[in-house]
Amino acid sequence: PLVTSKEMFQKAYEGKYAIGAFNVNNMEIIQGIVGAAQLEKSPVILQVSAGARKYANPIYLRKLVEAAVEDTDLPIVLHLDHGENFEICKACVDDGFTSVMIDGSHLPFEENIALTKKVVDYAHGRGVVVEAELGRLAGIEDAVRVEEKDAAFTDPDQAVEFVERTGVDSLAIAIGTSHGAFKFKGEPRLNFEILEKITELLPNFPLVLHGASSVPQEFVELTNQYGGKVPGAQGVPEEMLRKAAKFGVCKINIDTDLRLAMTASIRKAFVESPEVFDPRKYLGLGREAIQNMVQHKIRDVLGSSNTL
Ligand code: G3H
Ligand code: 13P
Ligand code: ZN
Ligand code: NA
Repeated sequence: PLVTSKEMFQKAYEGKYAIGAFNVNNMEIIQGIVGAAQLEKSPVILQVSAGARKYANPIYLRKLVEAAVEDTDLPIVLHLDHGENFEICKACVDDGFTSVMIDGSHLPFEENIALTKKVVDYAHGRGVVVEAELGRLAGIEDAVRVEEKDAAFTDPDQAVEFVERTGVDSLAIAIGTSHGAFKFKGEPRLNFEILEKITELLPNFPLVLHGASSVPQEFVELTNQYGGKVPGAQGVPEEMLRKAAKFGVCKINIDTDLRLAMTASIRKAFVESPEVFDPRKYLGLGREAIQNMVQHKIRDVLGSSNTL
C-alpha cells in the first residue's frame, strides 16, 4: 500500500538501519527500484522532484507509482523531493503524495521555520508527513547552485529549536554530503561529530541524508570507457552510510547512482550492439542495472532487507 514514512522510520530508528529514498523519473527507474525492494522484502521511498514532475508530467508519475503499489505488496512512500515553496507542497498533498519535503534551507532561520510550519499545518491536516532541511549542502540543489564556501553544517542547537517550533516529522541535515557525482575533491569526509550531537539532542527523531550516492567506480569506469565523460566522479563511501544509519539517520537519498547505473549500461549496450534500435532492449538493460544496484544498496548498505 501507499503509506507515510512514520512507521518505517520508527522501525528503522530502533533497528539502526535506513530506508532508501530513490528519485524516480520514468517507468524503467520505478520498476528497477521496486523490483529490488521486492527481492529484498524492504519498504521503499519513491521521491519525485520538481524537475521530475516537469519532465514526466505529474499525472504520469503518480499513475506509475500507483501501478507499483498495485503490482506489489510493499509499503511504498510517495514523497516530494526538495519542494521549494508552499504551493508545490500543497499540490502534492492534494495529489495523493504521502510525504512532502519543504526545502527552506536557503532561507534565514526564522523564515525557514515559518515556511516549514505552514506546510506542516497543511500536510498534517491531511495525514501527510513533512521533511524539512536545515543547513546548506554544497553542490546543486534543484537548480540552485550552492558554492562550497556558502555550504554550512547544521547547527545542533538550532536543529532542536527548529524541530520543536515546526512540528516537522523528519529533518535533512548538512554534514558534508552534496548532490551530484562530484562530492569530494580529495579524501571523502563527513562530520560525524555533528551527526552524533544532533542524534543525542533529538532522540528518536528521524534524520535524513541528502546527497548520499556512493558513485560506484564501476559505473564511472564503464561510462568513461564507452564514450562518456565523468572523470574524477566520487561519492560517499558505503562504509560512511552504514555508519550514518547507526545514528539518527533513517532516510538516505539516492539519485546520482541511479543515473550512473542506467547511463553506464546503455552506453555499453550502444557500443557493443550498434545494430540494436529497439528501445526495450537498452532501456531493459538500464532497468536491470538499476535493480541490481538498488538491491545491493538495500542489502549491503542501508540494511532494510527483510523488515516488512
Ligand atoms: O536533489 C536533486 C535530485 O537529484 C533531483 O534532481 O531536480 O534534476 O530532478 P532533479
Ligand atoms: P545524490 O545526488 O547524491 O544522489 O543525492 C540525491 C538527493 O539528495 C535527492 O534529494
Ligand atoms: Zn536532495
Ligand atoms: Na538510523
